[in-house]
Amino acid sequence: MAEAALYDTYSRAPLRFERGEGVWLITETGERYLDFGAGVAVTSVGHGHPHVVGALKEQADKVWHLSNVYEIPGQEAFAKRLTDATFADKVFFTNSGAEALECAIKTARRYQFSKGHPERFRIVTFEGAFHGRTLATIAAGGQEKYLEGFGPKTPGFDQVAFGDIEAVRAAVTDETAGILIEPVQGEGGIRPATTEFMKALRQLCDEHGLLLILDEVQSGVGRTGKLFAHEWSGVTPDIMAVAKGIGGGFPLGACLATAEAASGMKAGTHGSTYGGNPLAMAVGNAVLDVVLGEGFLQQVRDVSLVFRQGLASLKDRYPDVIEDVRGEGLMLGVKAAVPSAELLQAIRAAKLLAIPAGDNVIRLLPPLVVTPDEAREGLARLERAAETVRASAKKTA
Ligand SMILES: Cc1ncc(COP(=O)(O)O)c(C=O)c1O
Repeated sequence: MAEAALYDTYSRAPLRFERGEGVWLITETGERYLDFGAGVAVTSVGHGHPHVVGALKEQADKVWHLSNVYEIPGQEAFAKRLTDATFADKVFFTNSGAEALECAIKTARRYQFSKGHPERFRIVTFEGAFHGRTLATIAAGGQEKYLEGFGPKTPGFDQVAFGDIEAVRAAVTDETAGILIEPVQGEGGIRPATTEFMKALRQLCDEHGLLLILDEVQSGVGRTGKLFAHEWSGVTPDIMAVAKGIGGGFPLGACLATAEAASGMKAGTHGSTYGGNPLAMAVGNAVLDVVLGEGFLQQVRDVSLVFRQGLASLKDRYPDVIEDVRGEGLMLGVKAAVPSAELLQAIRAAKLLAIPAGDNVIRLLPPLVVTPDEAREGLARLERAAETVRASAKKTA
C-alpha cells in the first residue's frame, strides 16, 4: 500500500495526478480530469498559471524565507493592496485558513481585553459552520464528528442556528466578544446567509460593541463574483479570515481587520514563523494581479450564468437525481435527490472532479478562469453522471 506510512486521516480516491493545466488535472497514466473542485476552492487562477508560476520562480531565485523580525517588502505591498481593495486597514499573514481564523478569534478577544473587558471572550458561531481543524476552530465549527475524542471542547463558542437572528440575540451575553460567520457556508452545503441576516448581525454587533468576524476562507478572492462575498450584502465586517484562493495553491492565509479591531494586537501578541514568507507573498501578489485585473470578476459572474442556466436545466430534466441548485458566482452546490456519494461517484466516472459537502450537496468550485466552453463541457459530464445514476436506479427498481 503506497500510503501505509501516512496517517489514516483521509479516505483517498485512487487517483494520482501528475500535472495540472488550467482547469485540467492529468493522471500519471495520461487521463484528463476536468477539475471543478480546484483543491476545494484553492486553485483560483487554475493550475500552472504562467504569471503566478513566473512570480514564484523569480522569487525562488532571490530569497525564500525571512523571519518576521525583518521588514518584508512583499508583505507590505500585498497588505497595502488588500487593504486598498477592502474594508480593512491591517493584515496579518498566515499559512492556512485555520490559522487565519485563530488570528481572527485572538484579534477579537484581544480587542475586548484592551478595551477593559477581559471577560468578553465568547464568540457566537453557527450550526453547519466549518472553520478549520485546530482545537479552537473545531470548537468554533461545533461539529461533533470533528470534536469527538479530542478532549474537552475549547471553551468560548456558542453555537446557534444559521439564519436565526433571535437565536443570535439570545446567545449574546456580557461575555460575548463577537459573532463569527461564513457569508456562504461551504462545507455546510453552500448555504448563503441572506442580506437581511447579515445586516441584522451587523446591527447587533454595533448595538452591543461586538466584532463581526467573517470567515471568507472559501467564499473570498473572487469566488462568488465579488472580491469578497460580503460585498453582495453591503455589510462590512470588523475582522475577516481569508485563505485558499488567495494563494492559488501556495499555502497562504490572511487575517484582515479595521485599525480599531486590530488595536489590541501589539508587538509580541501574535506571530508565525512562515506567515508572510517571501515565496507566499510573491505568489499572493501575482494571484491578486490576475483577480484584480480589468474585467476578471465580471467574467466570473458571466461564466456563473452559464453554470446557473445549465444546472437549472439539468435539475428540470433530472429531478430524480438533482433536487436543488444553489450558490453564488462559482461557489455552486447541487443538492442530490439520491445519496450524494452515489452521484459523486458517477461524476468522477465522467472524469469530472467535484467536492462533497453537508446537506447531501455536491460542490462545484471550478477555477475562476474557467471559460464558458469549459463550463459547458463540465455540464455535459454532469449530465452523463445524472444519466448513469438514473439508469442504475431503474435497474434496481
Ligand atoms: C470556510 C472555511 N474556513 C476555514 C477553513 C480551514 O482552512 P485550512 O484547511 O486552510 O486550515 C476551511 C477549509 O476548508 C473553510 O472552508
